[in-house]
Amino acid sequence: MTPPSFEAARTRHQKARAAGLHPDYWYAVEWDHAVKPGQVVEIVFWKKSIALYRGEDGVLRAVDDRCAHRQLKLSAGNVKGCNLVCLYHGWEHGEDGRIAHIPHERFGKQIPKSKITTYPVQVRHGLIWIFPGDPALASVREVPAIPELAEGWPSVPVDATWNGHHSMIIDNVSDFTHEYLHEKYKPFSDPELTKLEVVDDRVHVGYRTKVGGDPKTEMVLNPSIDRGSIELCYSYPYQWSDTDGKIKHWCFVLPIDERRTRVFFLFLFAPDTYRLPFTRIRMPLAMVRGMLKIAKRAYIVPLLEQDRVAIEAEQVAHELHHDLPIPELNPAVQEFQRLTISKWEEALA
Ligand code: FES
Ligand SMILES: [Fe+2]
Repeated sequence: MTPPSFEAARTRHQKARAAGLHPDYWYAVEWDHAVKPGQVVEIVFWKKSIALYRGEDGVLRAVDDRCAHRQLKLSAGNVKGCNLVCLYHGWEHGEDGRIAHIPHERFGKQIPKSKITTYPVQVRHGLIWIFPGDPALASVREVPAIPELAEGWPSVPVDATWNGHHSMIIDNVSDFTHEYLHEKYKPFSDPELTKLEVVDDRVHVGYRTKVGGDPKTEMVLNPSIDRGSIELCYSYPYQWSDTDGKIKHWCFVLPIDERRTRVFFLFLFAPDTYRLPFTRIRMPLAMVRGMLKIAKRAYIVPLLEQDRVAIEAEQVAHELHHDLPIPELNPAVQEFQRLTISKWEEALA
């Protein structure tokens, strides 16, 4: 049985799992390096298809993914100069969304005035960001600042598309009651909720816990880093964590629809996070970067894979049993869901 729509949902849980994300924010949609000059890709933001392309001049542009002629997907076409060409009759769409050229006979008619929507685009932190909402707000809202990248902190980028609602991912990343799932990798142990604060559109959470449990990295971690607690935040619509100002992560979700979400993670490590084994000597950054490449494959991706399996199973469970009550124990989860719901109500108003 299909879960109820947001409007028909009766419980907080049902509403959270049906909510979209407010379009008046910048959303990470793709890695900058993944879209080459002359390439077009389809991006989906909450059921809306957007054609993202890089002109042969290297500039990124985003337009509605529908030809101004018969609405075919422009992402199935190709890029010519700075225009996007539909595969069917070859109509060229300019970066302003207007028809720039029609390559066949026009039967004495003018080029139609029809226009497709364009979206603000920018590149930050190695990611392409699109503003799907009111373009007048694009300059008011900001992509989250990550000064650590400019300061040269080594980072580990990871992305994936999971068959689950975006709110399940937010619940998962900041709710440490799922320690059991990660018994093998132990990213956190014996967590105890020490802080839960809602400030504006942010839910701040703190845990007393032991952060990190990979025995191979344990011997190279700087012992002066306090890994006895962690701060997390659902800073709508983004999510981050911070361990002693030294180990951080950002999580950016791109809601595709009610059951699919693309998620981008950036894990960040202060330059003095690692030492040469059994010494007090700081590990050279080139070595840190090499080690993190191995850690990504051996630890981070397998750890996130466990979350993917759980979230996808939760999505299936939700579709089957959305009418059954959920005895939610962690009060933080309720706050994440309340925020998601209230922002979606705001978007629909
Ligand atoms: S349908 Fe796109 S050019 Fe005709
Ligand atoms: Fe997890």
